[in-house]
Amino acid sequence: MALKLLSLDMRLVCELELSPLALVFWSILGVRALNNGLARTPTMGWLHWERFMCNLDCQEEPDACISEQLFMQMAELMVSDGWKDAGYEYLCIDDCWMAPQRDSKGRLQADPQRFPSGIKHLANYVHSKGLKLGIYADVGNKTCAGFPGSFGSYDIDAQTFADWGVDLLKFDGCHCDSIVSLENGYRYMSLALNKTGRSIVYSCEWPLYLRPFHKPNYTDIQYYCNHWRNFDDVYDSWESIKSILAWTVINQKEIVEVAGPGSWNDPDMLVIGNFGLSWDQQVTQMALWAIMAAPLLMSNDLRQISSQAKALLQNEDVIAINQDPLGKQGYCFRKEKQVEVWERPLSNLAWAVALRNLQEVGGPYPYTIQVSSLGRGLACNPGCIITQLLPEKVHLGFYEWTLTLKTRINPSGTVLLRLERF
Ligand code: GLA
Repeated sequence: MALKLLSLDMRLVCELELSPLALVFWSILGVRALNNGLARTPTMGWLHWERFMCNLDCQEEPDACISEQLFMQMAELMVSDGWKDAGYEYLCIDDCWMAPQRDSKGRLQADPQRFPSGIKHLANYVHSKGLKLGIYADVGNKTCAGFPGSFGSYDIDAQTFADWGVDLLKFDGCHCDSIVSLENGYRYMSLALNKTGRSIVYSCEWPLYLRPFHKPNYTDIQYYCNHWRNFDDVYDSWESIKSILAWTVINQKEIVEVAGPGSWNDPDMLVIGNFGLSWDQQVTQMALWAIMAAPLLMSNDLRQISSQAKALLQNEDVIAINQDPLGKQGYCFRKEKQVEVWERPLSNLAWAVALRNLQEVGGPYPYTIQVSSLGRGLACNPGCIITQLLPEKVHLGFYEWTLTLKTRINPSGTVLLRLERF
């Protein structure tokens, strides 16, 4: 059955339900997508979409159009401005890099005007800087912006990316004819990437496109994908960040437990350093993305970024929480009228706690919490050392189990804490 499936035209395979037997057979053959050894901690890097979108106009906007020049400049800055040292490793191309047609051999090709040296050359350049290159394609007939989709060409596209030296694939879910095609397409591309033998992080949007039709099976999704988008595209606005957090809280029972090394929920890009968020709102995004064990994919302009935003994005204590090797996603455990309390278990019995002020009016809100209620009653039993990491670092000292912690949280801001059990 499996061999027969493998020899079928991809178009047909997409219409078929992959039987559990076929998948078992494939795994016996040694093709295990989840076990690709990648993304053991959440992926960190830069992704062009939110900031640069589908800007094709290199005549009028040479510095903002989707071109090899943009990525080469970002690669240079990732190294020279400390981003790489902070952990941001993957430089990722999103939609709109392609030429409108495949080449004569059916392969995807980069737009020749905007990427005159080609993706392989760009990958070599990015690798020479000690970074990795991500690329974008789509499971359906077209990408969301209307460029060639991978439907019917999964093997050839996976091989093309591997030949170019690509290290991550963001696989979008626009323009798919049916749910069966969508699900099988995501599965098939995972296997196709694996078959190339190259280590390629597989970033999916499978549950996002599936959810309107039926509940995603995360056991299945995590078997095939390294991370996956669940919810709408992030925008450069506080409304957008709030909606992502609200969705996460509502759905946390379903999604938190499936996160772990190699498989992460992706709440979309960090928009810190752009136009839409106040300082406190940027702090909230950074703190909560750390608590959620989210991929940290910035979408901003590294050529023009304030030193404050840069320091926030490069904050090593916060990144250490995001990248904690235990790999457990945090959750919201208390929601009051004005404050949400989130926590995340860390390695060595430590915990991260985020106190988020939901108010968008007034001054800093005084909030007091029993330390015995943190970390499922374990974090400070019999005591703990508490360090505030955001909005700025403050050593708060030793707290016995019976004590209360007093904080002040700015409107729409977050206080992020690290608790080391004593
Ligand atoms: C979808 C994705 C976005 C981005 C665009 C590109 O909307 O969710 O992240 O990749 O497509 O067209």
